[in-house]
Amino acid sequence: MTVYRAEFPEKLRFLFEPHRYKVLYGGRGGAKSWSVARALLIQAAKAPLRILCARELQSSIAESVHHLLRSQIAEIGLEGFYEVQNSAIHGRNGSEFVFAGLRNNVTKIKSFEGIDRVWVEEAQAVSKGSWEVLIPTIRKEGSEIWITFNPELEADETYRRFVADPPAGAAVVHVNWDDNPWFPETLRREKDELKARDPDAYRNIWEGRCRAALDGAIYARELRVAQVEGRIGRIVYDAARPVHTFFDLGWADSTSIWFAQSIGSEFRLIDYYSNSQLPIQHYIGALQERGYVYGTDWLPHDARARTLATGRSVEEIMLAAGRRVRIVPDLSIYDGINAARTVFNRCWFDEHKCVEGLQGLRRYRYDVDPATGGFSGRPLHDLHSHAADAFRYFAVAAEDDRPGGSARGIRMRGWRT
Ligand SMILES: Nc1ncnc2c1ncn2[C@@H]1O[C@H](COP(=O)(O)OP(=O)(O)O)[C@@H](O)[C@H]1O
Ligand SMILES: [Mg+2]
Repeated sequence: MTVYRAEFPEKLRFLFEPHRYKVLYGGRGGAKSWSVARALLIQAAKAPLRILCARELQSSIAESVHHLLRSQIAEIGLEGFYEVQNSAIHGRNGSEFVFAGLRNNVTKIKSFEGIDRVWVEEAQAVSKGSWEVLIPTIRKEGSEIWITFNPELEADETYRRFVADPPAGAAVVHVNWDDNPWFPETLRREKDELKARDPDAYRNIWEGRCRAALDGAIYARELRVAQVEGRIGRIVYDAARPVHTFFDLGWADSTSIWFAQSIGSEFRLIDYYSNSQLPIQHYIGALQERGYVYGTDWLPHDARARTLATGRSVEEIMLAAGRRVRIVPDLSIYDGINAARTVFNRCWFDEHKCVEGLQGLRRYRYDVDPATGGFSGRPLHDLHSHAADAFRYFAVAAEDDRPGGSARGIRMRGWRT
């Protein structure tokens, strides 16, 4: 028999009971990650289990919980039992821990067979699309989905799905620092300091309450108005009008595409698509698959750069595929944001097809300057910012196409057809 030593906060006893979903959410330092790591290591030592450790994006194993699991193996004295490899952890009884990113990783996620436990860490960032692929994949008898996160917005998919309206069979527990008997002194100092300086941020970061809006959210007001005016809802594709697309290009970063129609004075954002680490041919396929009648594909400036791999630029490849392509004028981010604010009150969004794009817009925010603790003038570049980048290109093209609106001397034909 394997001997181990581990203790858990009282509130987390349920980790050792069977539940289809185990949801741990709350502020920092609540012992969520440590407890889940330990509970899984102990359970997988008692019986052979296949465990998938997932997060929304994982471009390397260093971003996963691999490191945490390894240190917990030592802490609870299971070094003799587990063999830690670079990309997996194996138990002597056949138990196995594997690691993967969820976003746009359908094939890989579906290829994991016979998973007994999934641990989704940092789950506040998990998108609707990812949950919809993951959940049906975990279908083995008795399998469980464990979810840990620090909430941000009430509108976030994970919060809505597992806290606001949890599914049958979910055990949902709110844990904070004061549930953690081993809450470290260094964290206590950080916590008290934030409480004195910024009570709103404190409530979110340490008490695990949702924020009303993200600090520094760039389009907070515009999105609120759109919601109140009913411009985020079901939008019907008008087959008599062309659909224009607006791309932000990336490889490791996502490529993001908005699909828009210009109808009267309205812009209808009817669809959104993003993916990563795929060649441009993939996105051309994604456009064709949707079967819209297309107008112009608007690309950012970097679409002109030739890639080393193909010797051709994205623009050339798209033209060769018979697409009608234009390059968006190269405005500063600042001008782009202003253009977006200007067109925002004419925009209607399909809330289902554009769910990820809207999530990106809600989270588009200014970076915090580490020197001053205030917001810098630069938007944060993160996994959500690509939707906002593509939206800026849309706005720049739309703005410039006002009747007589070639304010910058660039007349863009092809957008309003
Ligand atoms: N079972 C435990 N035994 C000893 N210390 C613990 C235990 N669980 C948590 N801690 C301490 O609490 C800290 C915060 O735990 P962590 O799991 O990282 O919290 P959360 O994931 O909720 O932010 C850890 O860094 C560790 O110092
Ligand atoms: Mg944690």
